[in-house]
Amino acid sequence: MDKDIVIDVKNLAKNYNGTKAVKGISFTVKRGEIFSMVGPNGAGKTTTVEILECLRTPSSGKAAVLGYDITDDAGKIKRKIGIMPQEFNTFDRLTAGENIKLMAGLYGNKSFKEIIELVGVNEFENKKFSTLSGGMKTKVGLAMALVSRADLLFLDEPTTGLDPQSRRETWKLIRKLNQEGKTIFLTTHYMEEVEELSDRAAVIIKGELKAIDSIKNLTEKYGGGVKLIVEKEEAKKLIKDRTDRVFETREGALIGIFDSKEKANMIVNKLFQMDCEFEIKKAGMEEVFLNLVGGRIDEGGEIL
Ligand SMILES: Nc1ncnc2c1ncn2[C@@H]1O[C@H](COP(=O)(O)OP(=O)(O)O)[C@@H](O)[C@H]1O
Ligand SMILES: [Mg+2]
Repeated sequence: MDKDIVIDVKNLAKNYNGTKAVKGISFTVKRGEIFSMVGPNGAGKTTTVEILECLRTPSSGKAAVLGYDITDDAGKIKRKIGIMPQEFNTFDRLTAGENIKLMAGLYGNKSFKEIIELVGVNEFENKKFSTLSGGMKTKVGLAMALVSRADLLFLDEPTTGLDPQSRRETWKLIRKLNQEGKTIFLTTHYMEEVEELSDRAAVIIKGELKAIDSIKNLTEKYGGGVKLIVEKEEAKKLIKDRTDRVFETREGALIGIFDSKEKANMIVNKLFQMDCEFEIKKAGMEEVFLNLVGGRIDEGGEIL
């Protein structure tokens, strides 16, 4: 087995009485990388993660985590990974610090103080968990994932529902953990998060993987080009006349995607002449997703 492959999934499938939640997916995760699984609610992310964490059993297919088979060696895997579940819960009436200490005790880890500092829980260590903000709760969750001293962390939607600032802080922490050598398997429905963090990403929808690659390759292959964002009706019309790759944002703006800078430039000139405001950006994961799936994901994780 290749020692640099820490997760190896082959044709993994999961049915829940008739619902095909995961439909035979295959992928690998390499040591040291941040690997993201991105998709809307119900895509099969948590099911996949929890199968790899040996909390659920697959209906068919195979997977190895750290070289161990998920069916034959579940006990070994569980001791060697760190987990932050989606919408995780702890003891609400214990303090942040007590919750971490409790979890550390389960793993026989006496150096949990270091983890508390590393993650920044020391700033609110003595506050009851129930009184913490979303961002603080996330830090507690990350600390609890770290007490196993695992080099492989599973973070299931770690920033869902957080305000933008807490989200950025969490990204920083995740990056720091990665720089310290942790391999990270992340799920998310935020395209910005995928761009910010991942070395490679897998796009999952309705239990199927649509693409897996580095962000650079994904954006080159499926999202390349330039996007223009406009609000005025006359500007929208101009863009709709020049490209088929358009979509409306929830705020009512129109985004048009152009294959090349040259094409976008022609429109930009016209927009100046028409005295219309616009924003211009390089096309990224948002466009990758749009091209692969034909829809966008809203803030809550639903597909539009
Ligand atoms: N324990 C379960 N029993 C029955 N159906 C489930 C269960 N867990 C998930 N599902 C269904 O499987 C699909 C994938 O869910 P999930 O893995 O939670 O997706 P995601 O994490 O991407 O939102 C959904 O249709 C969901 O309703
Ligand atoms: Mg989920």
